[in-house]
Amino acid sequence: MAPALDQIILSSTEKDNGLADRNTFATRVAGMGADPEKKALLANVTKRIDYSPKFGTELHGIKLSELTEQQSDELAALIAERGVVFFRNQSDFDLKEHVKLGSRWGPLHVHPLVPHTTENPEVIVLDSRLSPPGRYNTNNSWHSDVSFEPYPSSFSILKFDEIPEAGGDTVWSDGYQLYDSLSPSIQAFLEGLTATHTSDIFRVFQASTGRKTFGKLNDSSHPVVRTNPVTGWKSIFTNSVFTREIDNVTAQESKWILDYLNDVISKRLDYQVRFRWEKDSVAIWDNRSSFHTGVPDFKPYFRRGLRVTVSGEKPYFDKEASTTQAKVFAKVSEAIVAKQEAAENAKQETIEKASATIA
Ligand SMILES: [Fe+2]
Repeated sequence: MAPALDQIILSSTEKDNGLADRNTFATRVAGMGADPEKKALLANVTKRIDYSPKFGTELHGIKLSELTEQQSDELAALIAERGVVFFRNQSDFDLKEHVKLGSRWGPLHVHPLVPHTTENPEVIVLDSRLSPPGRYNTNNSWHSDVSFEPYPSSFSILKFDEIPEAGGDTVWSDGYQLYDSLSPSIQAFLEGLTATHTSDIFRVFQASTGRKTFGKLNDSSHPVVRTNPVTGWKSIFTNSVFTREIDNVTAQESKWILDYLNDVISKRLDYQVRFRWEKDSVAIWDNRSSFHTGVPDFKPYFRRGLRVTVSGEKPYFDKEASTTQAKVFAKVSEAIVAKQEAAENAKQETIEKASATIA
């Protein structure tokens, strides 16, 4: 069960003051070097639903509370490849297990402003009752979690305990496909740029509510094109909530670039997947190469969930060592086409043999 409202810390006290200033970075990349076939993890899977060929996967048959270290590592690799992975019926994935899984992947992030649970400052409470009045819609609320931090999140693990009777889906968009959709000359241009991500949205929220922060509200500059350290694939790393400007270009040019990227993120349905939450569903995603937004369509119902956010590495772009999802998928695609053709041919042969027998 989600904690009661009196078990949630809304505003910093002496005890929490400065806790978020101790946020640090992951010293090892979870999922890096994992078995490419992920045999230990996938052995237990009873059903796999890929939401689209490149992005978003739902796995059945896995209990997140019972994963071994090796399975957790393979799961991290799968999430880095698929962007977001969904699970259903995780009733025993409680707060303790939630923290345990996140801790295997890196240090857990303490949010500087979002309320957290009394027991675990690393577990934030996303409660629609505590949210600011709706300034945001699904065109301007796309983000990757805490990208304003010097060491932004690698993975977020989210479980809602209170699901609205109607509405409240979450949508994710693929940063790899966004990069791959750009012309080579625009890709090369963006590869040389950095952008400033800020906590401005929380400054506004803090000013309007008077809540005290759990630490400094950070601003950071990050590369616009980012290498995912697990897959080695290039992704765009800007978003409409936290990215204030592209560095070292004029304000107008910055707006022009960010508007274009934000437009693709919010409008290209073929790069998106949408998840309908059920009780005991869990979603885990890679913040380095995907974006997400809640769909704020569930009023008058409430929604409440718990999120554990894993801190990652300092974002980097490694031109030499990077490849793209498009290149890797071209090979996967050939194999899929060959398999379909083989199935077609086998079917045709069976028909021909049957016809011959009848004749
Ligand atoms: Fe988020």
